[in-house]
Amino acid sequence: MKILVTGGAGFIGSHVVEAYLATGHAVAVVDTLATGRRENLPPGVRLHQVDLRDEALDGVFAEERPEVVNHHAAQASVAVSLRDPRGDAAVNVIGGLCLLELCVRHGVRRVIYASTGGAIYGDAASLPTDERHPAAPSSPYGVAKYALEQYLHAFRVMHGLPSVTLRYANVYGPRQDPHGEAGVIALFIHAMLRGEQPTVFGDGAQTRDFVGVEDVARANVLALQSDAAGVFNIGTGVETSVNDLFARLAALTGSPGRPARAPARPGEVYRSVLDVRLAAERLGWTPQVSLQEGLHRTVDWFRARL
Ligand SMILES: NC(=O)c1ccc[n+]([C@@H]2O[C@H](COP(=O)([O-])OP(=O)(O)OC[C@H]3O[C@@H](n4cnc5c(N)ncnc54)[C@H](O)[C@@H]3O)[C@@H](O)[C@H]2O)c1
Repeated sequence: MKILVTGGAGFIGSHVVEAYLATGHAVAVVDTLATGRRENLPPGVRLHQVDLRDEALDGVFAEERPEVVNHHAAQASVAVSLRDPRGDAAVNVIGGLCLLELCVRHGVRRVIYASTGGAIYGDAASLPTDERHPAAPSSPYGVAKYALEQYLHAFRVMHGLPSVTLRYANVYGPRQDPHGEAGVIALFIHAMLRGEQPTVFGDGAQTRDFVGVEDVARANVLALQSDAAGVFNIGTGVETSVNDLFARLAALTGSPGRPARAPARPGEVYRSVLDVRLAAERLGWTPQVSLQEGLHRTVDWFRARL
């Protein structure tokens, strides 16, 4: 298959590109390099440095003629979306819509969309949270990611464009950006290895479902191979507190430090863990990497680069 991966130079997208190449598919990438990096891409993969909203994207479709579009490009930070909701929506809603229009115009057979379980369910009424739980996003980022899910549904009805939405839990692993508004695991490891004191927001008892990026990439391969449509949670079903995570990473990095403490951040849910049984039933996907093993690999990766 010929697959166009948007956001393929980013953290998760680059692992998806590798997994597709490893299973024998042809891949091209669209990425502005806003947060992605050319070095994340395996050699030989064609990179089109074009914005989702740029008319030049039409030419990319004409040239690459993708059968499948895998959509990972996004403004991916909840914190940035709180400061700049319009900027977030411009990329995540309007940019996504521009992409879907081109998928229809160029006869794309299937879209795979990277959405979020962590930011769509809000403070969920049931844990682990399954896909039928009402959406109640508590950040502009969550609203925008959910809006594109709804457009995908409408495009399926209006234009017969099939799609699979993968709602990720908190993804971690090699190549995650450890700066600024990054994922907590990358931030903690980076700070600990440099002898700095990471900050825990709130009481640290807040929980997340941490899923390894290799498992997420495999979900994208299975979503390509299956003809299942609709929405699937991709997580582990295991709830881990930030305090627990801190202790595990302190042990793995040999960091003696205690965390700095700061007030809880607005817009962040307190507990988050996904029910992933539907993905097991319909896509044949289950997570394979334990948190301890995944953290170990991630610490090794960061250590080798410092
Ligand atoms: N990291 C997580 O835990 C997580 C959880 C749930 C969902 N997601 C989703 O997964 C996807 C990838 O996230 P990530 O963590 O790898 O972030 P990332 O920032 O590393 O990847 C996003 C990529 O999109 C590119 N991009 C940004 N704006 C663009 C535009 N207008 N046009 C073209 N390219 C653009 C960036 O340069 C970057 O390479 C996003 O859609 C995000 O919403 C991530």
